[in-house]
Amino acid sequence: MLTKIFFAVGALLTQLVHGAAEPPVSSYSVVEVEWSLPVDPNKPNGAREFVTGTIEEAIAQMDAAHPGWSQTFTSNIQTVDPHALMARGSSPESQSVNCHLDSGKGAANCVDIRDGTRYLGSIDSPAPNNSPHSCGRVSCAYNSAIWWCNDNDSVKETTWKNMASSAWFLQDNCLYYERRTEKVSAQEFMKDEWNIYVTGDRC
Ligand SMILES: *[C@@H]1O[C@H](CO)[C@@H](O)[C@H](O)[C@H]1NC(C)=O
Repeated sequence: MLTKIFFAVGALLTQLVHGAAEPPVSSYSVVEVEWSLPVDPNKPNGAREFVTGTIEEAIAQMDAAHPGWSQTFTSNIQTVDPHALMARGSSPESQSVNCHLDSGKGAANCVDIRDGTRYLGSIDSPAPNNSPHSCGRVSCAYNSAIWWCNDNDSVKETTWKNMASSAWFLQDNCLYYERRTEKVSAQEFMKDEWNIYVTGDRC
């Protein structure tokens, strides 16, 4: 009995620690990312629901509310061509790229960043926005995260595809090998004053 309670509390604490995401750079505040997702992934113009968290948490919440949601969603993302994510127009226009940053949380696995990027690249919901000088964790799985941060004094809007494009670019251009695993810890700043940070993280 006591053991059970002990484990329950332990699990809760673990959740709290994991839930309290820290920004990749301490000078930013953290905002929770909000998603407007179609109740039926095959009907993007149908009813939508709001969920919060990373894309992985958002998918889990949609699947809990609508069994089968995750499977339908993931079967659709196979069609997202990674090269389409890399082919960017004038927006977002890159200002600078820092490869091999030390975020203090280790590096991300490129393979997991690619998965997160494919999720983001397949979402067409209304433009996500971000508060001034704040970061939101848009994807995190297997201790590998994608954050987007607003560097300006006003609210910033972009698209999930723009974020995906930057994260894909970073894992493609800044990857290095740790033993035989592809790793990345890097940040890209855009001219219109936001950035993407790909880093190791706790999740
Ligand atoms: C940055 O914020 C200022 C003040 O709110 C605004 O006038 C300007 O257009 C913003 N710049 C960008 C690139 O978003």
